[in-house]
Amino acid sequence: RTIHLADYQPFTHCVDQVDLTFRLHPTATRVLAKLALSPNPARPGHQDLRLNGIDLRLISARLNGAVLDLIADETGLTVPATLLPEGPFTLETEVEIAPAQNTALEGLYMSNGLYCTQCEAEGFRKITFYPDRPDVMAPFRVRIESDLPVLLSNGNPTGGEWVDPWPKPAYLFALVAGDLIATSADFTTASGRAVKLNIWVRPGDETRTDYAMDALIRSMRWDETAYGREYDLDVFNIVAVDDFNMGAMENKGLNIFNAKYVLASPETATDDDYARIEAIIAHEYFHNWTGNRITCRDWFQLCLKEGLTVFRDQQFSGDMRSHAVKRIEDVLTLRARQFREDGGPLAHAVRPDSFVEINNFYTATVYEKGAEVIGMLKRLVGDDGYKQALDLYFDRHDGQAATIEDWLAVFADATGRDLAQFKRWYEQAGTPRVTVKEDWDGAGTFRLTLSQVNPPTPGQPVKDAKVIPVAVGLLNPNGGEVLETTVLELTNSEQVFEFNGLAARPVPSILRGFSAPVVLEHAVDPTTRAFLLAHDTDPFNKWESGRALAKEILARMVTEGAAPGADWLEAMTQVAGDDSLDPAFRALVLRLPGEDDMAQTLFAAGHVPDPAAIHAARKRLGLALAERLAPALPGLLAGTVVDGPYSPDAKAAGKRALRLALLSLQTRLDAGAAASALFAQADNMTDEGGALACLLEQGIGAEELARFEAKWHGDRLVMDKWFSLQVLHAAPEALAGVVNRLTARPDFDMKNPNRFRSVMGMLAANHAGFHHADGAGYRLLADWLIKLDPLNPQTAARMSTGFESWSRYDADRQGMIRGELARMAAAPGLSRNLGEMVGRMLG
Ligand code: ARG
Ligand code: ZN
Repeated sequence: RTIHLADYQPFTHCVDQVDLTFRLHPTATRVLAKLALSPNPARPGHQDLRLNGIDLRLISARLNGAVLDLIADETGLTVPATLLPEGPFTLETEVEIAPAQNTALEGLYMSNGLYCTQCEAEGFRKITFYPDRPDVMAPFRVRIESDLPVLLSNGNPTGGEWVDPWPKPAYLFALVAGDLIATSADFTTASGRAVKLNIWVRPGDETRTDYAMDALIRSMRWDETAYGREYDLDVFNIVAVDDFNMGAMENKGLNIFNAKYVLASPETATDDDYARIEAIIAHEYFHNWTGNRITCRDWFQLCLKEGLTVFRDQQFSGDMRSHAVKRIEDVLTLRARQFREDGGPLAHAVRPDSFVEINNFYTATVYEKGAEVIGMLKRLVGDDGYKQALDLYFDRHDGQAATIEDWLAVFADATGRDLAQFKRWYEQAGTPRVTVKEDWDGAGTFRLTLSQVNPPTPGQPVKDAKVIPVAVGLLNPNGGEVLETTVLELTNSEQVFEFNGLAARPVPSILRGFSAPVVLEHAVDPTTRAFLLAHDTDPFNKWESGRALAKEILARMVTEGAAPGADWLEAMTQVAGDDSLDPAFRALVLRLPGEDDMAQTLFAAGHVPDPAAIHAARKRLGLALAERLAPALPGLLAGTVVDGPYSPDAKAAGKRALRLALLSLQTRLDAGAAASALFAQADNMTDEGGALACLLEQGIGAEELARFEAKWHGDRLVMDKWFSLQVLHAAPEALAGVVNRLTARPDFDMKNPNRFRSVMGMLAANHAGFHHADGAGYRLLADWLIKLDPLNPQTAARMSTGFESWSRYDADRQGMIRGELARMAAAPGLSRNLGEMVGRMLG
């Protein structure tokens, strides 16, 4: 059944208070719920009360104390209006559930002996009968009966109960119980509230919580200074669990995290892991205001909280580290995941208007494009306008369940700007293509003609022009800026922008900072690209120029059998040796475009991408770069040695990133000598895992792989890396064999989403291997999704996106992928989650 935004109606009743009692038992937990209800004035008339409930065994129900004889159906419980009084009333239910049998990891489940919950989006209905929708907000009181030492829920602990004074929707409910140990700290908010911070982990893991705690404290402080937002309870708890479908969850006062995004030590976590932990801790914390205090009216508004919270965590990470590097990384992810989604059968609007299963819409479009849309809005209204709008948003909507219309209204009201056209970014899917033409009249006037095309997407054949902020700067051909960054507003399908009084033809730097999530089509010759890589004053475009050069060369290598271009090799040599540049930036420039990225680019340029040819060309390009840099490599590598003990800070991490980028080149020349040496002496996982990756990428390193396993076999998170690396770097023809060998191991526990993803996610990410002409990769992924679906439909559905780009490829591959999609569609008992995804991909 499809749900439509247009059908929204407020709920029939208000929940004025929720009292829950849990009697925990692995297979027979009792949940007693006492709901204080009253008719909702927004829905006049005497109405039935319909509560959601799935897989609940109803023990008893009472209305104002009197026993009700009700029978639940598959999806819930109806109390007919005839039984309900006119005014407020109390409904008490008791149900039984079996957390130990809950492999879907939605609702109340067990992970390694620990009770925990995941209620977003619609998991609370697997715990008790309730109006499980975000616009029903209520204060909760929770009592947990169990012998387990640590019992947690939302809010403040008060007299043996957890009391959450802030009305919240059920998706923010959480409960945790088990043998846990806390790392604690004290935090005082700007206005003086004392807050106890606890990070709860399984005994033994408490040595790996310091960084998460540090990140939490920095996040809390940052939200006070950057947004004026303070924390609002006496405690803030974070719990790490091993089995979790996503990254983490912002439950009020009780964030639950995938252990992977909490636990870190130098020996076990890479620099990238540290950066992700920092970002996710911040993200979940920031939800306290953008998500919890102000929540979403319905799930169509998901981007209201997710886009904004991603935008905020990106700002935070930029402030903590480097804005330039962070922006480049974010754009790399956006293009790899969101552009890919937007260009295929799963394309949907940032605010979709229909869905079958909401869990399928926790996507790169809702999250990352949702954040880009906010970045554009900020650019259009300016920093002050943004600040005023956000202050108004918090002021006006605190305690409410809001919509995108509310969000845009605060910007309109605070800044006076008409946002009717801007709203299309929320409503229309697809990545706009912006074309640039330059004209120099020889007499001081330079013209840029910008035009936009908004390609059709499923269900949206025709689109209107969007308002696209295009940040441009003009450079002097001898270096230096003639026009600093200026935002051009492209609002029509084509517009001309004129710059007068110039002494010479400038070199334009277009779409600075990636000011809009669009594909830019601008014919620039390699010499100018190299000039921009050397001289652009905008760090994003400086990187982008090198990127564009590399992609153009790779494209010509694939389609025309061209040789690696001298311009690019020369430019890379310059960057590699330029000590005035941030090492992290240099590492990003030296990183070759990925194979999926090239397939996307070639497809957009009208070619049918050949995965084997892309793989071979990328190898040749890497080797050519290594050979060109060969004389300098030992010296460059020596320059990246980080002195002193490991520290995860951005500066040290940047040096290590550069070292690994150089090592990957060196390994193409020295049969792995340098990488083996680094592997052997590494005292941190960045170097150890990075060196191993360099070896595996060249088809060597069997011995190191075995040593890594012997050292880390007892560590689940590190072993995930061991699984991932082998799959990601397997040679195309060997991939299926590697996957079969790994999945046959007893430690391939498919019920653990991290482990499943570390193999199956990497299977789909190994572009040339997954798309090998024999179709073995496609069959394997489909086989495993069919196996996982009955256990964990949410993760199965998410992993099916490995197939989303089928229409890019040749007829044989298309036929094979569609065959696998059809096979999944026909699987007996297919879940709604996977069913919807497969159906959309088949079209
Ligand atoms: N709100 C969480 C976050 O963005 C994600 C929860 C997603 N859960 C889900 N079942 N889809 O941090
Ligand atoms: Zn979020």
